[in-house]
Amino acid sequence: MCEQMETNFPPELISLLRACRRAAALTGAGVSQESGVPTFRDAQSGLWAQYRPEDLATPEAFRRNPKLVWDWYAMRRARADSVAPNPGHYALVEMARCIEDFTLITQNVDGLHARAGSPKVIELHGNIRRVKCFECGQPAATWREDGETVPRCAACGGLLRPDVVWFGEMLPSEALDAAWAAARACQVFFSIGTSGLVQPAASLAYAARGGGAAVVEINLEPTPLTAQADFFLRGKSGEILPALVAAVWGQTQ
Ligand code: OAD
Repeated sequence: MCEQMETNFPPELISLLRACRRAAALTGAGVSQESGVPTFRDAQSGLWAQYRPEDLATPEAFRRNPKLVWDWYAMRRARADSVAPNPGHYALVEMARCIEDFTLITQNVDGLHARAGSPKVIELHGNIRRVKCFECGQPAATWREDGETVPRCAACGGLLRPDVVWFGEMLPSEALDAAWAAARACQVFFSIGTSGLVQPAASLAYAARGGGAAVVEINLEPTPLTAQADFFLRGKSGEILPALVAAVWGQTQ
């Protein structure tokens, strides 16, 4: 550990985090924004500008036009593969080293937390790199693209789809149970780079509060959670998180 850094963080927040033994963090698209992944609700560019993400991320959209949905995810997968984790992702890896029991819960499907080195990430909305069968649910380790059609399941011949949670679908129950348990048990709950508009993820902060946790929100702008948060740190997560980690625990190497 090196010397503490001078910062403008509230002293109560610094002491709270130094004493904290159990924390949980929920991240959203804002955390990946500085890596170059557009946030979910950002305007789409180019050929995709005519579609709302909400109209592509549903089972109905896939049934209606599987190739369109497959291609949209292929584009997003390629984008996620071409970017790298940012300082916000790395600061969360550090936080997991500094806090005895730290649970990272993400709504992001880009896999950047795992690539940064975060242990045990709870991926509430799945992962864009994984693919499974739309019919039988069997995961597909490999698949072949011919550019013309949607690849098919080796087991049942059904169409393959990304292993992400679409609107109207259930979240993976094991991941959701683990997220609720961490939220209820933590002393500090971070809500980072998420608009807090999508359930059930948006309720985790309230469950944490109900269990007596302090809620720390980091976002570029206020959200529906802000009025309930104990601390609202306004700005980019890629700047605030590393500064916070350095201020609380010093620069660990
Ligand atoms: P949104 O796109 O709804 O919100 C992104 C949030 O990040 C906004 O509140 C921004 O103000 C904030 N933000 C942007 N850049 C930031 C930065 N550099 N630092 C800090 N905050 C920043 O994304 P999510 O809340 O993740 O679900 O959306 C949640 C879910 O909605 C997604 O997982 C997706 C979507 O429906 C499914 O696909 C099931």
